[in-house]
Amino acid sequence: MADLDTLVAGMPKAELHMHLEGSLEAELTFALAARNGVTMPYASVEALRRAYAFTNLQSFLDLYYAGVNVLLQPQDFYDLTWAYFARAKQDNVVHAELFLGPQGHTARNIPMATVFDGVLRALDDVEQKLGITSRLIMVFQRHQTEDDGFRCLEASAPWHKRIAGVGLGGAEIGHPPQKFARLFAECTKRGFRKVAHAGEEGPAEFVVEALDVLGVERIDHGVRAEEDPALVARLAKSLVPLTVCPISNVKLKVFPDLAHHNVKRLLRAGLCVTINSDDPSYFGGYVNDNLIGCRRALDLTRDDVYRLARNSFVASFLSDADKARHIRQLDDYWTSV
Ligand code: ADE
Ligand code: ZN
Repeated sequence: MADLDTLVAGMPKAELHMHLEGSLEAELTFALAARNGVTMPYASVEALRRAYAFTNLQSFLDLYYAGVNVLLQPQDFYDLTWAYFARAKQDNVVHAELFLGPQGHTARNIPMATVFDGVLRALDDVEQKLGITSRLIMVFQRHQTEDDGFRCLEASAPWHKRIAGVGLGGAEIGHPPQKFARLFAECTKRGFRKVAHAGEEGPAEFVVEALDVLGVERIDHGVRAEEDPALVARLAKSLVPLTVCPISNVKLKVFPDLAHHNVKRLLRAGLCVTINSDDPSYFGGYVNDNLIGCRRALDLTRDDVYRLARNSFVASFLSDADKARHIRQLDDYWTSV
């Protein structure tokens, strides 16, 4: 029988926490810069990669927001999206729910249509040619004002039918979920699914706020929830999923290393935990790197990794029938290996 890490790599899985802009690999950055006549502030791919040494979330966000400057045309957004899925296919990702942050592009005078036309055409081709289904989650930047979020919501109206949900990303400290209460209330009225980054760098109380004030159905990261035992009990009971990103957490100094990550404790406490890559090009790991890295560092068992993959389908925005079909295929996989 193949070793457990090979089986983890081969199992079908969904990825639920992946920022499209965070999948921009350094090689593609340089290729797009050349195509678009953009001067890069780095001499080479290697020099750019060397800059990916972060001290906290903000030190990453500074590079991440600057990195998108090479994305100018619909084809650039197409290529970015396609590249992520081509890589995800190698990890046996069968469904992905992607974050896209239009404010980072409209602030650079890139029309919404450029962004959505490129991304959506790629998602259609991906489903047809690679057989991977997807959902799009429009993420509001929390360092911007709530009014700016409302402007983003209005400007994206022509594409709302193709946007499954909304989320909240960016600098967490100083920007509590409460700041976006009215915006999320409006998104509720308009029928969007809702998620939010909370409890990554921010305190457990931001997770509570995201649940109670924004009414989110999934928490992105959420690892600091562990500091509040009552909240852990609530998450275990309600099964509100956490989309945990272990390598991201290590790179942004939330945990010193994977061996000290709390994902195994949260999983064993009965929470609906999933494992994801967040910003794979910046953090140097796709979803299988995260799963296998945790398996080794935390000595996850076959049952743990099965549960993580099962949770990835349960926590998704797929229909109940599609969830059941994926879970059947996952079960078939584990009985066949
Ligand atoms: N945007 C992209 N990656 C993020 C992260 N890890 N936290 C908050 N916002 C983000
Ligand atoms: Zn994220």
